[in-house]
Amino acid sequence: MSLIKACARSINLVRRNPPLCNASLRPSPLGLSLHPTFRRTMASAMAKRLEGKTIVVTGASSGIGKSTAKEFARTSPKNLKLILTARRIDALKALAEEIKAEVGDGVKVLPYQLDVSKPEQINNFVPSLPEEFKEIDILVNNAGLVKGVAQAPDIKAEDMSIMFDTNVTGLINMTQAILPIFKKRSEGGRGDIINIGSIAGREPYAGGGIYCATKAAVRSFTESLRKELVASRIRIIEIDPGQVETEFSVVRFYGDKAKADAVYKGVEPLTGDDIAEIIVFAAGRRENVVIADTLVFPSHQASAGVMHRKS
Ligand SMILES: NC(=O)c1ccc[n+]([C@@H]2O[C@H](COP(=O)([O-])OP(=O)(O)OC[C@H]3O[C@@H](n4cnc5c(N)ncnc54)[C@H](OP(=O)(O)O)[C@@H]3O)[C@@H](O)[C@H]2O)c1
Repeated sequence: MSLIKACARSINLVRRNPPLCNASLRPSPLGLSLHPTFRRTMASAMAKRLEGKTIVVTGASSGIGKSTAKEFARTSPKNLKLILTARRIDALKALAEEIKAEVGDGVKVLPYQLDVSKPEQINNFVPSLPEEFKEIDILVNNAGLVKGVAQAPDIKAEDMSIMFDTNVTGLINMTQAILPIFKKRSEGGRGDIINIGSIAGREPYAGGGIYCATKAAVRSFTESLRKELVASRIRIIEIDPGQVETEFSVVRFYGDKAKADAVYKGVEPLTGDDIAEIIVFAAGRRENVVIADTLVFPSHQASAGVMHRKS
């Protein structure tokens, strides 16, 4: 969490929990006084729970994945390992530098080039990790994309394959690669799998036939997995964003930025940071708490197709 956000939260906490005794106050970074109960906040409990964890984020070179990497680092900056994966290795290296500059050496970052649509690359992923990064605790299956708005019978075979190979087979292969690490642990296994679905997986729309189908598959796989692992401590979490402004629409329109910008005209979409905060919140709950499922909209969205646009 950024300093500004932490301070804003502390102000709200002080407002909601007025100090009982001035002698117990200490100055905050903004010169305000914090009640001792604030020292034991949700944020610090979350930092403690995440401490020492090794976290894999797929699709960390941009958007929600990039924000998630930063949010984990800010939330638990003392002792964390992040394995950041995507195809664009230069972007991952730059992100590793950004994180180091912001939080210091407590967070060890491993940028790792990985195309999740290539099963052979996933097969090689865990075996090729340095020893100190092998004990993975959290997998954020975020890599995903949409290509085009074509409707049947004009959907390109290539786009169909890219979406299914990345969003569905890639996510399942990553899960299968990492689950054995979780299952070796006590009580039938421990670890978190956080799958990024979409409103599109709940509510199919015209022009999204393939993307919606891939996200419905993610939802179905996620629910099966939660049932299969019910006797373990492995938490299966799904987070379904509504509209988020990232590179998503640029990719959808094959790099046409003007078309992508038009998607967000007159609305105020979510940001990658908004979803990242929810991902980290879910991972930072007490072990017996599973945020199984969330649907997250910006204020002006009420379904896949219901958006209030300012003219
Ligand atoms: N933006 C939205 O409105 C929205 C709404 C609901 C759900 N989502 C979901 O949120 C997730 C993240 O999307 P985003 O909005 O953050 O979009 P984004 O900015 O385009 O980020 C997508 C990420 O996925 C990675 N990726 C794509 N194909 C990959 C592949 N074959 N192998 C490895 N990584 C790959 C990209 O990295 P490289 O290109 O470097 O590989 C990039 O880091 C996706 O699963 C998306 O479906 C987005």
